[in-house]
Amino acid sequence: MEPRDDNHFRQERIGMAASTQVTVLVGAQWGDEGKGKWIDVLAADGDLVVRYQGGNNAGHTLYVAGQKVVLHQLPSGIFHPRQTSALAAGVVINPAQLVAEMHKVRDQDVHLTPARLWLSGRAHVITPWHIHVDEQRESRSKSAIGTTKRGIGPTYGDKAARSGLRVGDYVDAAARARWIQRMTEVEPEFGPLLQRSATAWAAFEAAANALQPFVCDAESLIRTAVRAGKKVLLEGAQGALLDLDHGTYPFVTSSSTGAGGACQSIGLPPRHINRVIGIAKGYVTRVGSGPFPTELQDDIGALLAAKGQEFGATTGRPRRVGWLDGVALRYVVEVNGLDTLVLNKMDILTGLAEVKMCTAYRHPRLGLLTELPWSSDVLSACEPVYQTFPGWSTEIPKSGSMDLLPPEAKAFVAAAAAFCGAEIAMVGTGPGPGDALYKNR
Ligand code: IMP
Repeated sequence: MEPRDDNHFRQERIGMAASTQVTVLVGAQWGDEGKGKWIDVLAADGDLVVRYQGGNNAGHTLYVAGQKVVLHQLPSGIFHPRQTSALAAGVVINPAQLVAEMHKVRDQDVHLTPARLWLSGRAHVITPWHIHVDEQRESRSKSAIGTTKRGIGPTYGDKAARSGLRVGDYVDAAARARWIQRMTEVEPEFGPLLQRSATAWAAFEAAANALQPFVCDAESLIRTAVRAGKKVLLEGAQGALLDLDHGTYPFVTSSSTGAGGACQSIGLPPRHINRVIGIAKGYVTRVGSGPFPTELQDDIGALLAAKGQEFGATTGRPRRVGWLDGVALRYVVEVNGLDTLVLNKMDILTGLAEVKMCTAYRHPRLGLLTELPWSSDVLSACEPVYQTFPGWSTEIPKSGSMDLLPPEAKAFVAAAAAFCGAEIAMVGTGPGPGDALYKNR
């Protein structure tokens, strides 16, 4: 595979000093901000791209040679032939699905060798049992979270309970058999499920041999790369508002999606992180249940959903759509120490008479709130307080400088940056890697 011509997306364009070696990229909303594209763009200059949390609940969409590709587990840098990709300890892996994804990228001429793909032996494995438990909990609960039903919560749950299956043990037939034996003893439903879902278990077991050559002490290799001064990009899979601790609990995913999660997943001292970039959209989407104060259940919401093709890349579920939530974004900037923000999909807002940003919430009992409340019940009862901006009908140029934005769009971006306290250095103008306006051009 030829090196891709990504020279014009150099990191210098976004003001990254040559000395910036370790960058964390987080989703700054509830996921689906368009991280896949930006990881792909930023990875052009990198040596190593590491996925630090989540599993195949994620769906990162990118365009390679004009073709749409959705990756669920492999890092979005995998298409850059000079780079190494890693899945670190904080990730959960669905083995059969990962093997299928590896076949998919190989079909697109990606040369996958153990030198180019490191799978952490410490990461945890999603088994058919975990998927079964996720489905059961979701279908039995009256207040379902709206998970992707990929077994994510139960897998992280078993990890915390110290009863999970790690990748290193999974690829060892004897250790895998011991785990299955133990689960049969402690979970009454486990044995019957093994019988009932024999095909799923067979596929699960069969993937072990294909993954075995890639399993290694990924964290040690990553730290060595960092010490050697390699350019490393650490990619989050979901959004910061889905963080297990700092998101809108319980309507969150089961891992640490924020920048701190990267250090914990890899065992990387925080002092090595030079820069944290957040990806947000010019509006907000959310999949699944949970509070969403700026949600639009009107024609504008329907228009943005259709124009922005807001359907889940993993489940195909329609995404809920709303105006930009400045309060939530400012919280994410603060929690993650974002240096830079990307405001993606700004082209989708073109043509609206006016655009809005939420600058406070109004709660029926607590009054005006200027901070994101910790309680999802409180947030659910809040009404948004908006700042309204004139819209623009001139098409946003696909590439070049952010100075080319229509004046109204420029005012909206400037107000969002000032309100959130982070520099907006890039604006997304379309799905392709070149569809972007940069501040420093
Ligand atoms: P889980 O991660 O499948 O357990 O789902 C928990 C919550 O996170 C649900 O609201 C999901 O819709 C949401 N979620 C999980 N992964 C993604 C993602 O990649 N994008 C957006 N939402 C996600």
